[in-house]
Amino acid sequence: MNRRSFLGLLGAAAAGTALAGCGFADAGQTGERLVTTARLPKPFRVPLPVPPVARPVGTGATRYQVTQRVAHAEILPGLRTEILGYDGIFPGPTIETRRGTPVVVRHRNELSVPTVVHLHGGHTPHEHDGWPLDLVLPVGNKREWATHHGTGDRADGERDYRYPMAQRAATLWYHDHRMDFTGPAVYRGLAGFHLVRDDEEDALPLPRGDRELPLMICDRAFDEDGSFAYPALDQEMRSVPGVRGDWMEGVLGDVVLVNGAPWPVHEVDAARYRLRLLNASNARRYRITMTVPGKPDLPLTQIGSDGGLLAAPVTHQAIDIAPGERFDVVVDFSVLPVGTEVTVVNGLGSGGTADIMRFHVVRKARDDSRVPAQLSSVAPLTPPAGAPLRTFRFSRGPVGDHRGWTINGTSFAPGGALADSRLGEVEVWRFVTDVHHPVHIHLDPFQVLHRNGRDPGDYDGGWKDTVDLRPAEIVDVAVRFTDYAGRFVMHCHNLEHEDMAMMATVRTIN
Ligand code: C2O
Ligand code: CU
Ligand code: CU
Repeated sequence: MNRRSFLGLLGAAAAGTALAGCGFADAGQTGERLVTTARLPKPFRVPLPVPPVARPVGTGATRYQVTQRVAHAEILPGLRTEILGYDGIFPGPTIETRRGTPVVVRHRNELSVPTVVHLHGGHTPHEHDGWPLDLVLPVGNKREWATHHGTGDRADGERDYRYPMAQRAATLWYHDHRMDFTGPAVYRGLAGFHLVRDDEEDALPLPRGDRELPLMICDRAFDEDGSFAYPALDQEMRSVPGVRGDWMEGVLGDVVLVNGAPWPVHEVDAARYRLRLLNASNARRYRITMTVPGKPDLPLTQIGSDGGLLAAPVTHQAIDIAPGERFDVVVDFSVLPVGTEVTVVNGLGSGGTADIMRFHVVRKARDDSRVPAQLSSVAPLTPPAGAPLRTFRFSRGPVGDHRGWTINGTSFAPGGALADSRLGEVEVWRFVTDVHHPVHIHLDPFQVLHRNGRDPGDYDGGWKDTVDLRPAEIVDVAVRFTDYAGRFVMHCHNLEHEDMAMMATVRTIN
């Protein structure tokens, strides 16, 4: 039987468990909502956690060790949630590295299923990029997975991921990327920040220290006992990919977590803060605004995108952020009186998903930071006349003999490639959608050229590695791969779509 031939089959068979969809999709979303049955806290009571920064092992600050294991976290007050965690925490430890200093991250898999680690936004050779079939097998559990599907490189229990870090300062993140099972693995906790810093950025007078906050935003739903609810066909994540039929368009939770806490609150100085926003949700998109009672919303000054600093800051009243995307923004709380509560609101949510978190301005403070009018330089990627134009259609389609998601009518086949791209050459890639698809390309960032035949949209600026497409849109991007010849992937970052085959191999050639 084909590895995907169960898809949909089990959809009917598994119906009738505790999970329930509420039968409508949220505005601006492609996906189906789950309903939490656990007791939820009131919003803005739980303090915002900030993930610990990983300490290097040994001397030289270039080696890190992360152990993937099952743990129990108190996400909802008074309840325990079983998570799959990098070092047993969710989000995982933040790895901070510097441009030009290569690092090795050794991942040890103490879980019961194989894993794959991908550094999203990393400029990384094939062997270390987290090819979806390059498995890290569970420690001491080699036999069982020896005949598992597909071809790839298997590491027994541990694997060293080598990151050259020859790239600009940027907000990256690492997460699981195992073929067919990325959705449940990330949902259960396998995600963390990886920040790259460099001298150029350090020289800017941006907010730093406690006034720089990475914010991982994601939605989840919980069963009554506090466990994560996820409508996987195969709850053991062993052999059957995908989710039950109702959730095929994407799994939406009804609780918003920031850094793993439900609708948290954070006390701030009346000063500027740098917020590194990451949407780590499986399928949910957000429209982020900062509301202040009785006053206009606080503007969000964008300083960076997926691939690091913009050339110049851009001020937004709202930011739309799709799964996989990052927006680096500065907000200025100094214009507000002490005591003000600033709520981070989601204009695309309803009920529990209309709120994200809250900042409470608690004290006056000195602030030497500012946002310079020029931040960096971003050379435009200009496709030469006659540059290759490749069109990729993202649409619902058959996967084997069942329903799934396809690119140009094909489902992910590790052996074949949908593009052979020459290193160093600028190409135009055209994405076309049926419903929402956040499209992500590995290896190198790209630049948006056109959206629906016009100029790029408000959120398309700078170096991107993930671009959000709404239903029936056409987006052209300029792509240029560099340095590493080999096999990489591009895919939809709606993780249910990705697991249900909306992924393609890209071959880079010398
Ligand atoms: Cu964030 Cu291919 O992944
Ligand atoms: Cu990636
Ligand atoms: Cu998609």
